[in-house]
Amino acid sequence: MISSVSETTLPGTGAPAAVEASDDGLARASARRPRVLIIANQKGGVGKTTTAINLATALAAVGSRVLVVDLDPQGNASTGLGVGHNRRERGTYDLLIGRASVHEATQHTDVPNLDLVPSTVDLAGAELELIDMDRREYRLRDALTTVASDYDYVLVDSPPSLNLLTLNGLVAADAVLVPLQCEFFALEGLTHLLRTIDRIKRNLNPSLDLQGVVLTMADGRNNLTNMVAADVRGFLGEKVYNTVIPRNVRVSEAPSHGKPVLLYDLRCPGSQAYIQLAREVIRREAENHE
Ligand SMILES: Nc1ncnc2c1ncn2[C@@H]1O[C@H](COP(=O)(O)OP(=O)(O)OP(=O)(O)O)[C@@H](O)[C@H]1O
Ligand SMILES: [Mg+2]
Repeated sequence: MISSVSETTLPGTGAPAAVEASDDGLARASARRPRVLIIANQKGGVGKTTTAINLATALAAVGSRVLVVDLDPQGNASTGLGVGHNRRERGTYDLLIGRASVHEATQHTDVPNLDLVPSTVDLAGAELELIDMDRREYRLRDALTTVASDYDYVLVDSPPSLNLLTLNGLVAADAVLVPLQCEFFALEGLTHLLRTIDRIKRNLNPSLDLQGVVLTMADGRNNLTNMVAADVRGFLGEKVYNTVIPRNVRVSEAPSHGKPVLLYDLRCPGSQAYIQLAREVIRREAENHE
């Protein structure tokens, strides 16, 4: 049951956040096994990493235990969570090739309740190495079985392509969360992604769901933004979150400080939007899986 909006302290900052209080059943998707959500869109620069970092932070702020898995060789989620290259000893690559357990590849971030499996430089070569391996599409799924009840959510940030790395993420996931930038070809890209999800559901991961589509970098004064948003809502209905992430310069500044925007500037519109999105995600998880 969701209680009313209350003042909650954002962990580690002492800063109050207007985060909806929730009882244990809501803040935690399941006491048994974490819900694995992949943030995916084969289109580049649409806000996948920004969403992974800030949704993870907002979920952690309401008391969920969250693990971010950086499945992108660009490593932007790792950098944005303040884990620079010199701190990345083991990472997603080691999970995929079976050289480390999740526990061994995980490190804490500055956000309480939020841990990270970082992307290391060798992840860029992992695709080639995986091709000849057993269960090549299931490597991440197999690795994540060992996290058991350590986390409530695992958020996987994926690269801008539908390659074998992304495929591993989609096979490991319970649901896909798609950030979509409101621009001209958005719907075409989305249709392609939905077809891929469907194919994976039929062949490799029957329980894969679409958690939802979040409109990102929206500029309410721009007619194209509004037209595309209306089209996407017409096409997907309730699968589109009510929350829209606005284009906000504070969101783009935060990664260079190695911080989620929620820690960089809690009160800016971008932070508030990600807090709203976390509420919606938690509510959907509760509705679908409790
Ligand atoms: N709401 C926002 N307001 C302003 N800038 C944003 C917002 N969301 C993302 N950005 C900026 O847009 C750029 C692309 O965002 P991001 O890296 O999250 O996209 P991505 O989909 O992960 O990209 P890639 O496909 O390369 O992995 C970044 O510079 C980011 O800081
Ligand atoms: Mg990214």
